[in-house]
Amino acid sequence: MTIPVLAPTRAELRSLLSDRSGRVALVPTMGALHDGHAALIRRAREEAGTGPVVVSIFVNPLQFAPGEDLDRYPRTLSADLEMCAEAGADVVFAPAVDEVYPGGDPLVTVDPGPLGTMLEGASRPTHFRGVLTVVAKLLGLVRPDVAVFGQKDYQQLVLVRRMVSDLCLGVEIVGAATAREPDGLALSSRNRYLDADDRARATILSRALHAAQQRAEYGVPAARWAAMKVLSEDPELELDYLAVRAADLSEIPDDLGDCPDGVEGRVLVAARIGATRLIDNMALCLGAPATPEGGS
Ligand code: PAF
Repeated sequence: MTIPVLAPTRAELRSLLSDRSGRVALVPTMGALHDGHAALIRRAREEAGTGPVVVSIFVNPLQFAPGEDLDRYPRTLSADLEMCAEAGADVVFAPAVDEVYPGGDPLVTVDPGPLGTMLEGASRPTHFRGVLTVVAKLLGLVRPDVAVFGQKDYQQLVLVRRMVSDLCLGVEIVGAATAREPDGLALSSRNRYLDADDRARATILSRALHAAQQRAEYGVPAARWAAMKVLSEDPELELDYLAVRAADLSEIPDDLGDCPDGVEGRVLVAARIGATRLIDNMALCLGAPATPEGGS
């Protein structure tokens, strides 16, 4: 097990990476690390080979709207460092807010465009501007060859890929499968907000997505209907959205036309369980029989 070096400042990060050799891999996080993050770090370790793996831990104020959980977002640095060590990170960049935003809020930010106003962006209109701006900054500070993101935040992953391509940022983006509890709940730092009752109810999200996967071969309306049927089992659930989209999040017509191999799609859900808003998503193969292992 390597003990990662903690770099709280840009200067320390720069000096640690100054004699970098090999492929540099970055895993951007907001801390409160769980087994899902450990899987991302292990994936980064594989991608980097003998090169350094950098994990950033930064609760980015720019991606939280007033009234969201910025102040109560869990901060668990010493446990996070242990997890980084076990998963094979070499450097942990854990800056303070004024280290990342030395002049206060930046004047120039990354506009996520129309992809940032749908789904999560419809409920959280400033969220993706904050996410893309900090990701662009982290890519600029670390200059990785590859960055690993979880598919759990699928819209974020699609937007990061699009930013990297549209702005020619020259980094490979890897999307790693969502890690789940044995009962299907997607791992998330926000799961710790759930009390025992809400935790038991929360499995409804992955069950609904799984039902959509099972019916996807019959098309978009069938997949959507199957998921909604499961979601309706919990009358207290506050559904924000349930959407069936193409893999790039564009709209798909209900009538898929002639596509013998099916269309790669995604089913996405956001809902409030008690006081906690959770999101989840799974891959779909629309118009063709589901693969036995399904998608993540
Ligand atoms: O997914 C997250 O944890 C955050 O949105 C990220 C990518 C680290 C940016 O703050």
